[in-house]
Formats: sequence, C-alpha cells, structure tokens
Amino acid sequence: MRTDYCGLIDKKFLGQTVTVKGWAHRRRDHGGVIFIDLRDREGLVQVVIDPDTPEAFQTADASRNEYVLAITGIVRERPAGTANANLISGEIEILAKDIEVLNTAATPPFQIDEDNLSENVRLTNRVIDLRRPAMQKNLRLRYRVAMGVRNHLDKQGFIDIETPMLTRSTPEGARDYLVPSRVHPGEFFALPQSPQLFKQLLMVAGFDRYYQITKCFRDEDLRADRQPEFTQIDIETSFLNEDEIMDITETMAQEIFRDVMQVELGKFPRMSYNDAMFYYGSDKPDLRVSLKFTELTDLMKTEEFKVFRGAADQANGRVVALRVPGGASISRKEIDEYTQFVSIYGAKGLAYIKVNDKSKITNDETSGLQSPIVKFLSVNALNEIMSRTGADNGDIIFFGADKAKVVNEAIGALRIKIGHERGEAGGYFVREWRPLWVVDFPMFEHDEEADRWTACHHPFTSPKPGHEDLMDTDPGACLARAYDMVLNGWEIGGGSVRIHRADVQEKVFAALKISPEEQQNKFGFLLDNLKFGAPPHGGLAFGLDRLVTLMCGAESIRDVIAFPKTQRAQCLLTNAPNAVDEKQLKELNLRLRQKAETPAA
Ligand code: AMO
Ligand code: AMP
Repeated sequence: MRTDYCGLIDKKFLGQTVTVKGWAHRRRDHGGVIFIDLRDREGLVQVVIDPDTPEAFQTADASRNEYVLAITGIVRERPAGTANANLISGEIEILAKDIEVLNTAATPPFQIDEDNLSENVRLTNRVIDLRRPAMQKNLRLRYRVAMGVRNHLDKQGFIDIETPMLTRSTPEGARDYLVPSRVHPGEFFALPQSPQLFKQLLMVAGFDRYYQITKCFRDEDLRADRQPEFTQIDIETSFLNEDEIMDITETMAQEIFRDVMQVELGKFPRMSYNDAMFYYGSDKPDLRVSLKFTELTDLMKTEEFKVFRGAADQANGRVVALRVPGGASISRKEIDEYTQFVSIYGAKGLAYIKVNDKSKITNDETSGLQSPIVKFLSVNALNEIMSRTGADNGDIIFFGADKAKVVNEAIGALRIKIGHERGEAGGYFVREWRPLWVVDFPMFEHDEEADRWTACHHPFTSPKPGHEDLMDTDPGACLARAYDMVLNGWEIGGGSVRIHRADVQEKVFAALKISPEEQQNKFGFLLDNLKFGAPPHGGLAFGLDRLVTLMCGAESIRDVIAFPKTQRAQCLLTNAPNAVDEKQLKELNLRLRQKAETPAA
C-alpha cells in the first residue's frame, strides 16, 4: 500500500517508514550507492539504495528512467550541504529497504526535464509530455479554475444545463464542422460553434440563470490563442441589462483570480471600441504597455509627402505616430527588423524620426531630427508631430500610413512588440494584470471582399436603444449592446444583451441580407419561440482555455489542453483526422471527390 505521495514527504516524516510509488525520474550511480529520484504527481523524492540491501540494490541497478517502482524505506535527513531548496522533499531522502518494479519502460523519446522540445515532438508524444511537471501544474490549475467557476455560479443561483453537440449551425463567424447523418442520407448535423441559440431558448423556457462549461467547435484559421475545439464558460441570464451582466461576470473573474492566484484584479475600467481602435489599433488592447497611437491623419491631408498624404486622403486611410520614449538608441538593424515585422501585417514600410534635439527644428535646419522622411515634411508638420506625441529628446517616433485596418494591425502589433521587448527598461510596460471591458461595439462590420455587412459579435445581439433604425439607413453607425472582457491583450470573454423580439431579430437578419425564407429555414425555431413571450436576456462566454493560459503564464492555449490539435488542426497523438474505409462512407451515403481538392495549408 502506498503511504504517501513522493513530492509531499518532508522533515515531519523523519524516522518513519514510508511506501511510495511512482516513476524513476533520474537514476544516478555514485560508485557503490545508487540514487533514484522517484516522481509522482506531487513531485520528486530522492531515494538512496545501499549495497547493504542487496536485493533492493540489484533491482535499482536494473531500473531505468521511467520504470514504475514501489519503494519502501526510512525517511532520513540528507547529509549536510546536499539539501535542495526547490523541493518540498529537499531536506530528506528515503533509505530504501525494498524496491519492486511494477512495470518497465521503453526508453522515452525525451527526458521529462528536457526543455526546448519542439512542439511537434511534444504533441506526438503527448502522454510523456504530460508527465512534465509544467504540464501537470497547468492542468491542475485548469481544474481549480473550473471548480472555482462552478462554485461561484452555483452560489449565484446558476444551474448547469447541457446542450446538444449534434445540432444545427450556430453562426459565430467560423466554418462549421459537419457530421453526416446515416439515418437521413445527404443530411448533416453541425457541431456547435457555441451553445448560443440553446442558451437563449433556455431563457425563453424560464430557467433564468444558466451556465455550462462546454466544448465549442470552429473550423477557422488557427493561432496561438485558437483551437478548433475549445472550452467556453457559457453564461446566460434573464431580465438583466449589460451593466448587471458585466458586474456578475467581472465579480466571478475577480473571485477566480483571488482564489486560484491570490491576485486582486480590482475594478475593470471600461473603454469604448472607438477609443480602443483610436489609441491602440486593437479591440483587445494590452494595457500593460502604456504606448499609445497619435492621430496624424488630419495633419497629413495638407502635406506633400506622398506616402502619408495618399493614406490620409483615402476613404478608409489612416496615418498614426507611435512615440517610443528613449527609442533613439534603437539601432538601424533593429529598425530594419521592425520594418520586416510590420510587413507581416501588410505595412509597406516603417517611417521613423529619431528626436535628438527638438530645438533644432526651424525653417533653416532640421538637424535635430534623424530620419529618412523629415526632408519631405513641412516644419509646421514636424512641430505638430512633436507636440502631439509629446516627444522628448532621445525618443523615436514610428509612423504607419495605409488603410486604417493595415495601420491598426501593423502599428498595434509593433506597439506590443516594442512594449514587451523594451518597455520594462523604458518604463512603458508593467508586469501586472490589466483587465478591461471593451464596450460600444458596432453592430456590423463591412466585409470588403464580399461587399456586405456581417455581425460584429453574432446576429442575435441587440442594437443599442435608439439605434434600431440605423440598421437600414447607416449600418456602420449602429452600435450593439455587446461587451468583451480583455486581459493583457487577450479577449478572454465576450457577450451581449440579446434581441428578445422577433420583429427586431428579423430586421437584423434582413440587414445581414438573410432572406425571409432563409431566416425561417435556418432560424425558424428561434424566431417562433421569441414570439412566445421571450424575456429580455443576455450573457457572456469566457474562453476557459485562454483564461487558464494567461493564469499559467503559458505561451499557447495548447499548453493548457491535455490533448490539443496542431496549428494545422490535427491530433498528432491519434493521427486524427484520418481517412475512413469505403464501407463507412457507403453507410453514410457519401462519395469522396478527388483528393486533390483538399485545401492547401
Ligand atoms: P465568442 O465567439 O466571442 O462569443 O466566444 C467567447 C470566447 O471564447 C473564446 N474563443 C476561443 N478560444 C479558443 N479557441 C477559439 N477558436 C475561440 N473562439 C472563441 C474567446 C472568446 O472571448 N456565443 C457567444 C458568447 C455570448 O454572446 O454569450 C460567443 O461564442 O475567449
Ligand atoms: P519611400 O519613399 O518608399 O522610400 O519611403 C520613405 C520612408 O517611409 C521609409 O522609411 C519607409 O520605410 C517609410 N514608409 C513607406 N511606406 C510607408 C507606410 N505605408 N507607412 C509608414 N511608413 C512608410
């Protein structure tokens, strides 16, 4: 019988006989004495095996890394000077009396304490990878968060109701994963992109407060913070307005951080979508970085410099400056790297001015400024740039000029990059938690390629009171009752007050160019039920994976998911997705088109 976890044995156990079970993490042969660090989920303990116990010694001698061992022995103090302050068990060791091999192990593909493993290797050998203490810690923290959420919501009167996985499409803006129906040849279920419509229907059904920690499925381009299947903490309430819903969910986030991380998040500031785009070029600004954009579009409409003037005169053009305090020390080579970096976001260049001596900007000289573009700008513009950005000697000012979308993305990303790389030394980055609400989102976004309006959040989001008529006259100006919770540059949650009247819902569908027939066909079950006395309702969904990733300080949400998919939406452990045999296809009434039609990466 195991008496204790390896990683928890400390000085309190001195003199006791214990039995521990776990994996041989490391085995060292010290000429005559063997040391095994035995590992279980709580950590490591050092075991000493002396030749005086010949049987145990022989077993230890034959053991290899990752063998599964049961070891009984006496806890004793480590010799002076050999304590390990990083381990709970660091001051003691177990002198083995008896060792049993519970299972042998093939040589693992990598050592458990190896860093710098490629993600492909880790995901292919995910089981071994999950043995690593960092992964054990992440998944336990994830569990603590999920439990904290359940406890909190239960106390607030929310009940957990499951919603179907095999369902109709719920448009959240991604492609659906489809599941063919065998019983109904040629017909398909869609896996839910979220439980959105079901949770609304539960409100119509009178449940008042619903939550669920559930999987969502979206076939979209993957990034570090996106997975094709991910987990939401999904919440819906009746009769509350946006302030009340934001209060409930903010309090929950604060409580989780307090309980799990011992961190006080404080009150979340609110920022309008317009301000977020204006100052940070992003609807999820990382407020740890204090650098802000300076608007120059108006100023550049009267300048000769073609790059800036051209952008300023475009309908959707924008020119901004980004002042970096102390940035004049940034080298030519680094500026070239930043230029390369912004080009990923479509920027055609990265103009800059190094401010060496502000007093030397006159009609006769601009020698106080070091820059490839000063010669193209008027003294008035240069002075205006200095005063608007508040630049000091020793600063650098970067410029972006293009379509607003390109400028926002490129200079927004540069802001984060420079902030993270140089901000701590430069005084414009704080290593803290910076949550905020982004509010007053537009209802619709214009999709340039398709030349049509799409829902900014989802099509079930209510317009702001008084904005209903703008849907016909000026869709771009219509604001939504939607809100996002943002933390350190990540959108960790989003929600809205919903439309609870069928006529308003039909109007939004119409604005999205969904014909009445299509509305009835796709969303008839919603429209019909809204007519049976739907209460005002709204909610929010947190991205659990993202929340936990931030709490763990991990780089990617894949590090907080036991069995994630790669960037190419594959599971390297099981090799899914995979081809299926002809018989299965036939049962489903499917025939494959040519292989060549599989989309390129
Ligand atoms: P939304 O689409 O904003 O809203 O999703 C809510 C939150 O889920 C997380 N998230 C993701 N996490 C990982 N991988 C993904 N592919 C992914 N997509 C989204 C984000 C996001 O903030 N039904 C609405 C919620 C509502 O209105 O109540 C919805 O799904 O953290
Ligand atoms: P050019 O006239 O193309 O040589 O550009 C002059 C300077 O402006 C260079 O430093 C370029 O990196 C920069 N530049 C060019 N296009 C842009 C742009 N769209 N936004 C910001 N800077 C640019």
